Amino acid sequence: MPSPAPSTARTVVVSIGGSVLLTGTDDAKYVEELADLLREAGRSHPLVVTTGGGRAAREYIRLGRELGLTEVELDEIGIDVTRLNARLLAARLGPPTPAHPPTTIAAAVHELRHASPIVLGGTEPGHTTDGVGALVAARVRAERFVNATDVDGLYDQDPRTHPNARRIDQIWWPEFRKRVHAATSGEPGQNFLFDRLGADTLARAGIPLAIVQGRDLENLGKAIRGEPFVGSRVG
Ligand code: UTP
Repeated sequence: MPSPAPSTARTVVVSIGGSVLLTGTDDAKYVEELADLLREAGRSHPLVVTTGGGRAAREYIRLGRELGLTEVELDEIGIDVTRLNARLLAARLGPPTPAHPPTTIAAAVHELRHASPIVLGGTEPGHTTDGVGALVAARVRAERFVNATDVDGLYDQDPRTHPNARRIDQIWWPEFRKRVHAATSGEPGQNFLFDRLGADTLARAGIPLAIVQGRDLENLGKAIRGEPFVGSRVG
């Protein structure tokens, strides 16, 4: 009798912003250390990792917009860049992580039954890789979702322009969704710390969200393992 497929119970989903992967400073060292952390965490929890496109995606989208491409075409260009980053991270992780990242939610869920971590980029137009991660999380009833971004949590005002901005350490879904919807319109290349589909999907599924600074790997590891961390908690 074939052995049953490994369980996806206790899955953790991590969304790594492209702005965390590609900063122009020590990126190779960061990706190496990130891969070590994810490989280790992927042994104790089934782990799904999405990679954003960051400034490379935004640059291509800006160029495409100047050339008059449609919004769907711009999204598809963004998706291609997120997949390049997924290839990079998957290659560094090595087996059992599939070298060719899955391109649909269903394929990612399927592969998670055979390997961990699974890395993927975008899937279809209209959202970001946060939304992709949230759909996978909802599908497998993930234990938690960790958003690794370029700020150390959600602030009451934009910390880049408001020096007195204060981090919100705990927020509930209705208020968080209101903030996400106010800050995003769903246009290609938009850059807010979480997207609409992601917030709506996780809220509906009741999956807690942690928002952390992705370059602080020690803290990111704590959030992934479910230990106390510095950042914001939603849910
Ligand atoms: P990202 O996931 O990088 O989103 O997708 P982001 O929030 O703009 O950037 P970072 O990386 O977190 O800083 C880049 C773009 O690719 C398209 C969207 O246009 C998105 O803004 N995209 C991505 C999709 O249309 N569908 C997807 O599934 C993923």
